[in-house]
Amino acid sequence: MGEIALMSDVLELVDVSVVREGRALVDQVSWSVKEGERWVILGPNGAGKTTLLNLASSYLFPSSGSASILGEQLGKVDVFDLRPRIGVAGIALADKLPRSQTVLQTVLTAAYGMTASWQENYDEIDEQRARAFLDRLGMTAYLDRKFGTLSEGERKRTLIARAMMTDPELLLLDEPAAGLDLGGREDLVRRLGRLARDPYAPSMIMVTHHVEEIAPGFTHVLMIRQGKVLAAGPLDLELTSSNLSHCFGLPLIVERNGNDRWTAQGLPLT
Ligand SMILES: Nc1ncnc2c1ncn2[C@@H]1O[C@H](COP(=O)(O)OP(=O)(O)OP(=O)(O)O)[C@@H](O)[C@H]1O
Ligand SMILES: [Mg+2]
Repeated sequence: MGEIALMSDVLELVDVSVVREGRALVDQVSWSVKEGERWVILGPNGAGKTTLLNLASSYLFPSSGSASILGEQLGKVDVFDLRPRIGVAGIALADKLPRSQTVLQTVLTAAYGMTASWQENYDEIDEQRARAFLDRLGMTAYLDRKFGTLSEGERKRTLIARAMMTDPELLLLDEPAAGLDLGGREDLVRRLGRLARDPYAPSMIMVTHHVEEIAPGFTHVLMIRQGKVLAAGPLDLELTSSNLSHCFGLPLIVERNGNDRWTAQGLPLT
């Protein structure tokens, strides 16, 4: 086996399809993510973005094709060994977490791989780590607040801190900025940008609906439509008006601003 090649492959999908009720939600996708890369996944509603993240987090297996995560092939590895190496922050998770738990507990429980807090006595080191991640996400003032009382933006930031808790090698974010107001979005983009440019931060894959949410430091984009990959590669090469228009099925103009941010808009009606 090519050990060195394997080490740098964070995610390797080869001809992967996910078929449900006779329909391919993910359709013969080949995609490879290397260590240190920060990917954005773009695509219309129902394109298969969350399904791809479910594959990448080992919660879903391919119907055909092969999927390797962090050098381990799905179907040949115990997913319970694999999952602690992957940090996930998505909408589905927020609903599973106990609303009455404090913010600090919510992050701490990630270290124990469960959604409820059984123990009162966590390691001092774990608690320090949880506090540090929450601080990085600007949540220090909320440590004792009940998770269920948080605003959408505060909840998102707590979930990202939680996903960092196991020191993952791969971080998966599903629409982290959805539901945030303008200030909240800009705050999150700034924080994600800091994370993306941190060489010690994990490899990242972020699903988003808006190119405005792509933080500086992100390196690659995958565009998907009806389960099929339309474009995959470095942002500068692939995030073009032509690719984005194909992806969303309408004429769009995408621009990169001087400060390494992106905007997209439809062509005006004539
Ligand atoms: N278990 C399932 N059985 C049948 N269809 C499913 C199942 N899970 C998802 N789908 C369908 O697969 C398609 C892709 O779903 P997915 O959640 O990956 O889309 P998405 O790109 O994340 O969309 P959104 O932007 O709305 O979050 C959708 O049409 C969805 O209805
Ligand atoms: Mg989705």
